[in-house]
Amino acid sequence: MTKLKRIGVLTSGGDCGGLNAVIRAIFLRAKKKYNIEVYGIRNGTLGLINRPLDYEVLTYKSFQGFLIKQGGTFLGTNNKGNPFKFFKDGKYIDATKKIAAAYKSLKLDGLIIIGGDGSMKILKKISDLTDINIVAIPKTIDNDVGVTEYSVGFNTAVDAATKALDSLQSTAASHGRAMILEVMGRDAGHIALNAGIAGGADIILIPEIKYTIAGIINKLNEIKKNKIGHSLIIIAESVKKENGENVTNNYSNQMRFGGIGYYIAQEIMKNSDMECRVTSLGHIQRGATPVAIDRILASAFGVSAVDLIAKKKFNRLVIWKNRKVVDISINEGIKHYRQVTDEDVLLKTAISLGTYIGSINN
Ligand code: F6P
Repeated sequence: MTKLKRIGVLTSGGDCGGLNAVIRAIFLRAKKKYNIEVYGIRNGTLGLINRPLDYEVLTYKSFQGFLIKQGGTFLGTNNKGNPFKFFKDGKYIDATKKIAAAYKSLKLDGLIIIGGDGSMKILKKISDLTDINIVAIPKTIDNDVGVTEYSVGFNTAVDAATKALDSLQSTAASHGRAMILEVMGRDAGHIALNAGIAGGADIILIPEIKYTIAGIINKLNEIKKNKIGHSLIIIAESVKKENGENVTNNYSNQMRFGGIGYYIAQEIMKNSDMECRVTSLGHIQRGATPVAIDRILASAFGVSAVDLIAKKKFNRLVIWKNRKVVDISINEGIKHYRQVTDEDVLLKTAISLGTYIGSINN
């Protein structure tokens, strides 16, 4: 088998904790075990689309001590430039050929992509249409990549949300209020469910389960009956209003979830004497210092991805399953979008703790 000489790595989609640790692991494994050179492509696929090409050759010096504990990605990323509909000089173009030409001119033998389901779908399609050999590593705070128990970044987001609940608990108790924390997660409720349990929330609202305002008020009354004058509510950003409407914000034609916490606060205050305040945690979940488990997962994924590339086992996705890193085809990996299911052990845990989580425990 001819030996590979040079590979690329890029981060694509929204950033999260642990990305720098993945890039570090890729570099160390490639360099030490295989003496493969690693090119860090800047700003996702943009580094391969733009001219001059935007990349840096990674060296030991690239990974000064602080990077493993640093949130974000030092290579940069982007979550809007779909290469199939790339906006350039006032019109949309298909940038696939530009990416293929860049890969060729850099003499890359493979490309490791660190991305969520959206990025993986796009890059798999590009690799099918070109000679680009890819291996993928799952990252997303949403933890919605179907097949892996954990994606890089999820646990850091859960930790940030748990710490926010811890801080909100004391002020909730001081003022006798219901404090509402709105968290990210796109269409999946994993962050809200996990942090809700860890932070002792009384009410957890996730998009997978319907709630009623009456159910929320009942729970608040039950808390009051137990002589506790405050409560914690955590709510996933994509939870809908009781009438089924989404709550979103328009950032120059980019729709993002946000604001459902205020709706719930108003409804509670209309229907009870409980005072509410809302905190929207937002991008703090993405930029927080990566927790140990994310750095560990990142390191294990990075090493395995390089081993796959070295064996020329392309089109594979590394995943975490039963405390092991295994690899599956990218197609298999992007087939399922993972939301919270009725069988989720944590859902059962939350219900068993008496948490109000919607119609499932009414
Ligand atoms: O997919 C990650 C995520 O943080 C979602 O949880 C959130 O809905 C979205 O990205 C926010 O995207 P942006 O950074 O473009 O505001």
